[in-house]
Amino acid sequence: MAEFKELPADAPAGAKVLNWFENRFPTAFDAYRVHMSEYYAPKNFNFWYFFGSLAMLVLVIQIVTGIFLVMHYKPDAALAFGSVEYIMRDVPWGWLVRYMHSTGASAFFVVVYLHMFRGLIYGSYRKPRELVWVFGCAIFLVLMAEAFMGYLLPWGQMSYWGAQVIVNLFAAIPFVGPDLALLIRGDYVVGDATLNRFFSFHVIAVPLVLLGLVVAHLLALHDVGSNNPDGVEIKGPNAPKDAKGKPLDGIPFHPYYTVHDIMGVGVFLMVFSAVVFFAPEFGGYFLEYNNFIPADPLKTPAHIAPVWYFTPFYSMLRAITTEMMYALILCVVVAAALAVIKGQLNAMFKAVIGGGAVVLIALMLAIDAKFWGVVVMGGAVIILFFLPWLDNSPVRSIRYRPDWHKYLYGIFVINFVILAYLGVQPPSPIGERVSQVGTLFYFGFFLLMPWWSRLGEPKPVPSRVTFEAH
Ligand code: HEM
Repeated sequence: MAEFKELPADAPAGAKVLNWFENRFPTAFDAYRVHMSEYYAPKNFNFWYFFGSLAMLVLVIQIVTGIFLVMHYKPDAALAFGSVEYIMRDVPWGWLVRYMHSTGASAFFVVVYLHMFRGLIYGSYRKPRELVWVFGCAIFLVLMAEAFMGYLLPWGQMSYWGAQVIVNLFAAIPFVGPDLALLIRGDYVVGDATLNRFFSFHVIAVPLVLLGLVVAHLLALHDVGSNNPDGVEIKGPNAPKDAKGKPLDGIPFHPYYTVHDIMGVGVFLMVFSAVVFFAPEFGGYFLEYNNFIPADPLKTPAHIAPVWYFTPFYSMLRAITTEMMYALILCVVVAAALAVIKGQLNAMFKAVIGGGAVVLIALMLAIDAKFWGVVVMGGAVIILFFLPWLDNSPVRSIRYRPDWHKYLYGIFVINFVILAYLGVQPPSPIGERVSQVGTLFYFGFFLLMPWWSRLGEPKPVPSRVTFEAH
């Protein structure tokens, strides 16, 4: 056991109390120093750096409001819809708790999408922060599962049919699909058993995983240190430091960024409250109108669309028609031909690539397009994990990349928004074509990144972060 630190008898009472605790629980005090008061963050953070702390805030909002919802919600197919109505009408402040939770779900995705975009433009996923990014991608995946299962709980028409559509997708997997779908549902159709298991996962299993991943995400970040809008390392061996070895371009997280983040929290809460109090349905995007009708297994709604945050991926799923499969096969042929002709590979590798392409094309022809739609939808999320190894640009931040890189990122965002829009619309021939082009662009952006990220003349990167006092 370490020596107890004694304070002089005339030390302030507050200091004595703290000292009493520190002598008995030094780990907590060390953690505070390592992660807050002596965690040096670059001094040039901008508004993009609000979204990490905002994601934590929304996580807390969801957990706290979720706890209160569970007090009155009934996970029973015969009672669930009515219990939500009861919360909305009869439970004191129940409407507020429920609207905060439903708005919080959408806010979570708004904040996390912006947080991910920040990582994309400033190259925050690159060495040595690959694991921070990989944990982030795992969080995103788990968040999607959490939102999907939560959406079944109000047991409205959209809850029911949305779950039916998505669980049936698993049935498209060859051999194991139908059994897997049965395992997930616990019944031959979405029913009471499905509701019970989704409830159990939504309220405890998945949130625990989410919390664990967020802790890993932050610990990994604090081990390597934060990136910044210039993409310049402030803690590396060549970074300027003071006599005590503290980075000259860094400031302690507490109090500087705790105060800074309060500003972001203030703005966020204003927007969040405006939605909660004045537009909780948000035009049918946050709470779909069909979900105010109780689930009816005998009546399929005319148009089933997932909630907005899933729709870019849903569009990609719908884009994979039999016709689109031929376009994908062409992509595989071109990619394999380029690798064999242009790649500096030995004969054995070339044979493996050629053979692999032939097998893949045979599978693409043999298995239904619906299955490949599921693969594409899943692949659109999985590909994000590989971003650190796809980017070959000599510079990290978008600030110092060739200007056309910025336009490319701009088109990427517009494409993602168009895919999201198409995903909420009923299927149409033109929408199908646009989403097919959008899907090819989305994958092209990532799969061709090792090539295009190297092109163009980067701008000179400063040796220190750029910062103007404001
Ligand atoms: C519950 C969800 C999440 C929470 C609570 C969270 C929290 C945080 C916090 C507090 C930070 C430090 C402050 C900041 O840089 O904004 C951070 C940094 C970071 N996060 Fe997340 N995050 C979440 C999801 C994600 C996702 C989905 C990704 C990417 C797929 C991601 C990637 C990153 C990266 C790369 C950094 C380092 C940024 C830099 O240093 O420039 N995070 N996260």
